[in-house]
Amino acid sequence: MKQYIIRGGKSLAGEVTIGGAKNAALGILAAAIMTDDEVTVENLPDVSDINALLEAISAIGGRVERIDAHTVKLCGASICSTTVDYDYIQKIRASYYLLGALLGKKGKATVAMPGGCKIGSRPIDQHIKGLKALGATVVSENSMIKVKADKLKGSHIFLDVVSVGATINIMLAAALSTGQTIIENVAKEPHIVDVANFLNSMGANIKGAGTDVIRVRGVERLHGSVYSCIPDQIEAGTFMCLAAATKGDIVLKNIIPKHLEAISAKLSEIGADITEFDDSMRISCNKRVSSSVVKTRVYPGFPTDMQPQIAVVLTTADGVSTINENIWEDRFKYIAELRKMGAVVTVEGNVAFIEGQKELKPAIMEAPDLRAGAALTIAALQADGVSIITDIHYIERGYENFDGKLRQLGASIEKIDSDDQAAIQRFKLEVI
Ligand code: UD1
Repeated sequence: MKQYIIRGGKSLAGEVTIGGAKNAALGILAAAIMTDDEVTVENLPDVSDINALLEAISAIGGRVERIDAHTVKLCGASICSTTVDYDYIQKIRASYYLLGALLGKKGKATVAMPGGCKIGSRPIDQHIKGLKALGATVVSENSMIKVKADKLKGSHIFLDVVSVGATINIMLAAALSTGQTIIENVAKEPHIVDVANFLNSMGANIKGAGTDVIRVRGVERLHGSVYSCIPDQIEAGTFMCLAAATKGDIVLKNIIPKHLEAISAKLSEIGADITEFDDSMRISCNKRVSSSVVKTRVYPGFPTDMQPQIAVVLTTADGVSTINENIWEDRFKYIAELRKMGAVVTVEGNVAFIEGQKELKPAIMEAPDLRAGAALTIAALQADGVSIITDIHYIERGYENFDGKLRQLGASIEKIDSDDQAAIQRFKLEVI
């Protein structure tokens, strides 16, 4: 098992280029198989979640041709199966976008039921409600969901819960239905807009993405396209928190500052200096941050996927901070790890109270999931001394070359095999 070994305590500075948005790319790759023409998707992040979805697409017969680390050519014409096995759903939950995509393209799909994961129970009732409203029959059998429709017909759907996944799945199926679908109370995240823009570039007729109501006028067929994914707002936000936590000075390149407004506002409020440019941003922080109240909300609110990273920044704030997690009921597991560093945090239900300390101390910590893993890495980079983060495969699901980008900013971090004690010793000697 790979782990990060980190010598923290340095202010990190320099430039970092942000990659394509993982969560947009997952929806876009699923959408890409809906045409029989060739599609080229650019600015993909080279992370394991994307590779797992590409494997799932290959497994059902789709043609996947890697042009380079960030570009892929896909063709859905050769798809011969409409069943996505549990193996893929287990690796990458978002394989369930193939439910909507295959239903639209082939009129049927069987996808393994996504299990709960470490941040909450993650139901998919809203996806199912939407697909049923479009005329699909949905049967759940032996942990598989089977959807089928002779003809998908436009419908009026009001989501009970604002859901990124349900919005994308319904939009995918509706793109190849007959008539108009109106989906209300939809998610407005930048990646929803990106998936809609991509579908439109293939000839779909989708309006309103980015607002509460999306209108899809079904078309008979979709055609090929060349499309570039938007930059990853969460990767960018993670490096912003890194700058604040390490009293650093970082320039983020290839970003859309508008997508980062909630994060920028919060970091400015607690004392970071932020200057925005067209597609880049400079963030620096040269003082102890002040405490704050953070409430996770759907976009444009503060993203739940940035909750662990901002919590780490606040562990050394001046005063007591409060974090309300309003999206996932079980997203505070990493706090037990942070306590090993001397963080003083109490959790009551979905609220964490963080008593800011002057500094954190190094520790050996386990990454419990993707974003929390990145947050613990930031904590380790902040603390003076050698820390170890285990289970970094979670981090590699969504951050491309995380350790490399951190080294570029001056961090002492190595990816080392956990069995390789000699390498760990070598690292400790080298950095001291
Ligand atoms: C996506 C993101 C994930 C992010 C989340 C919220 C991807 C691949 N993942 O996940 O990183 O944390 O959005 O921004 O894009 N819900 C229901 N019924 C449903 C669907 C969702 O009750 O049918 C609830 C969930 O339990 C949760 C909330 O809605 O409380 C938001 O979930 P959703 O937006 O669907 O998250 P994902 O699409 O799974």
